[in-house]
Amino acid sequence: MARRMRTLRDLDVTERRVLVRVDYNVPLENGRVTDDTRIRATVETIRWLLDQRARIILCTHLGRPKGQVREELRLAPVAAALSTVLGQSVRYVRDIVGPEAREMARRLQPGEVGLLENLRFDRREEQNDPEFAAALASLAERYVNDAFGAAHRAHASVVGVAKLLPRAAGFLMEREVAALERVLHSTERPFVLVLGGAKVSDKIGVIENLLPRADALLLGGGMANTFLRAQGFEVGRSLVEEDKVEEARRLFALAAQHGVRVELPVDVVVAPSLSAVDARQILRVAEMSADQAIYDIGPETVRHFAAVIATAQLLVWNGPMGVYEVPEFREGTRGVAEAVAACPGFTLVGGGDSVAALKELGLADRVDHLSTGGGATLEYLEGRELPGVAVLMEGGE
Ligand code: 3PG
Repeated sequence: MARRMRTLRDLDVTERRVLVRVDYNVPLENGRVTDDTRIRATVETIRWLLDQRARIILCTHLGRPKGQVREELRLAPVAAALSTVLGQSVRYVRDIVGPEAREMARRLQPGEVGLLENLRFDRREEQNDPEFAAALASLAERYVNDAFGAAHRAHASVVGVAKLLPRAAGFLMEREVAALERVLHSTERPFVLVLGGAKVSDKIGVIENLLPRADALLLGGGMANTFLRAQGFEVGRSLVEEDKVEEARRLFALAAQHGVRVELPVDVVVAPSLSAVDARQILRVAEMSADQAIYDIGPETVRHFAAVIATAQLLVWNGPMGVYEVPEFREGTRGVAEAVAACPGFTLVGGGDSVAALKELGLADRVDHLSTGGGATLEYLEGRELPGVAVLMEGGE
């Protein structure tokens, strides 16, 4: 029988101090949170805990300060955004496990929410230091992990502290794991895998793990160039991972062995450089010349991909089809986003740009699961056990 995760319903939290690990690693600009998706994604858990009159102590990392206090990575903007989302004030302290944090935890009343300072200001967080984990644990009587996006990190707030307190997964963690488990174990077919993004190297593990069960693999984005090169096409000045061309050939062979249909771009949007958007043109892949670079998939490719996507009963999409941040090279990603939204099967989308595209187009709610994870989602799809998930399983330590 599949192992079961301990969930919030298993935990008695009434009026207890509950340490909740969240992933509020959100984009900031001029001291403001510019995308609060990860904050909103935890509201269900926070509200449930508030309904139980718990005293909530939230903790998160932000950025990669590597054990140094960095003023621009303090959590004040996050606390402000969270207060707005929750409609109640949040007691933010500029301290993690010191006297101010302990005082905040001690004073917290049932139904109140506190937020500790950026965990990664203390180098012991990433070292999974036992003393740091114990200090975090001493702030609370229960532990909840709703930080799916950080579940691939064996850090003190993800693993160390979980072993010291009665623990459970939050609702976001539960939803993410359930959706990814469905992708890994369901027998729904056709299973279509749509991958993009800059680098092949980020996706090799996912392709290898999912190919044996997939029916079609659609490749776009910068990573497709390496596959085109492996098939002998001229890709000009396009981004190519030369050291992955052999790997791409191996993956083609693996796909053939499993009878998986691999679709590469047949037409592309090219320009002499990323800034020369006015000189862009749409070419057949075979027409590429040495002085051009590929920045998006073309309209015919979008039609091909959309036709395959329309047949999927199970679909995973990760990574944009072109240089999404430049409006002129966004159409391929937009087209794929529309096709994924219209897909009748179970659809899971991960990766910042793919998710951003769906949101911008107002299509986010037409996808069955939008993952909040970056690296964590990819590692899960690679079939790896995430330390932050393993520690929440029944029967664990
Ligand atoms: C993410 O943004 O993917 C998570 O918050 C993890 O961040 P990290 O890669 O810095 O550990």
